[in-house]
Amino acid sequence: MVAWQRSQGRHGLPWQDQRDPYRVWLSEIMLQQTQVTTVLAYYARFLQRFPDVAALAQAPLDDVLAAWSGLGYYSRARNLHRCAQAVMTAHGGRFPASAEQLALLPGIGRSTAAAIAAFCFGERAAILDGNVKRVLTRALGFGADLAVARHERELWVRACELLPPAAADMPAYTQGLMDLGATVCLARRPNCLLCPLQGDCVAQREGMPQAYPVKTRKLKRTRREHWWLWLEHAGAVWLQQRPATGVWAGLWSLPLLDDEAALDAVTRRLQVHAEPQPVIEHALTHFDWTLHPRRAVLGSAAAVEAALGPGRWTALDALDTVGLPAPLKKLLTS
Ligand code: ADE
Ligand code: SF4
Repeated sequence: MVAWQRSQGRHGLPWQDQRDPYRVWLSEIMLQQTQVTTVLAYYARFLQRFPDVAALAQAPLDDVLAAWSGLGYYSRARNLHRCAQAVMTAHGGRFPASAEQLALLPGIGRSTAAAIAAFCFGERAAILDGNVKRVLTRALGFGADLAVARHERELWVRACELLPPAAADMPAYTQGLMDLGATVCLARRPNCLLCPLQGDCVAQREGMPQAYPVKTRKLKRTRREHWWLWLEHAGAVWLQQRPATGVWAGLWSLPLLDDEAALDAVTRRLQVHAEPQPVIEHALTHFDWTLHPRRAVLGSAAAVEAALGPGRWTALDALDTVGLPAPLKKLLTS
């Protein structure tokens, strides 16, 4: 694995080959649910805006959300901010140097803590994110149901037993597991012929890599439908801040209305006609969201707040300065 990573793994990414926990931590959080190519642009810009953990901790949350805007899963940005503040107040501005301590910080789970500790300090700590679970269950022929907590704990134990003995090998080993999961041991089409584990891999010997991992419990997805009122006046759009909890917490959105009748009531009151825009289908973790945008350009801004509640006009050329949900950013800038 270590040799494979050094010759065939991914190299030259800006967060690799360095031991600054701030930079490694930031990259790991960004990479949790976002592709490397997307992260690259955000990572550089984010570091320019927040060059160290102190700068991030001091910044207003709104600025952090604005810099995160478009990356999705905004709880990551809120936890990032809280974590930076915890590092300042509880650790004197230095990230703790062990996986165990790192895992106590906001937004850092066991696997992320292990990745940071392995990359920065060579700690022999095991990672086990979704990709790595796939690689290890296949390589080990681990067929127990991971929906059962006891089985998941057992896989953690097995992952620890597989760690290389030398601290110096931990960064390449950890990166190698991630790279294998992302580029070779793919969910639908594992490329066993290119895999350094072929020969040792139980699933490949059995001829059924796709049988792993086993996980029975399925996420029950639900559907939601809302109407999105897009009001413009004098080159600005009316945005309302989402509540501090729930979907898009703290981000700025167009007013969301439960049904078409509610939207019609508002537009009647404002004496405008709102033009239907193409429907947006947005998939979130727990539900599929159908959004119906309706756009109107107002001659006067007078009655808007009275009809819709608190919000603010944001210039269309200043949308970068507010935290917008990704689909809204796309809608307003395309
Ligand atoms: N996903 C999570 N961490 C990663 C890393 N360090 N490199 C590539 N993909 C990742
Ligand atoms: Fe995955 Fe195939 Fe490698 Fe086994 S040999 S770890 S199934 S890619």
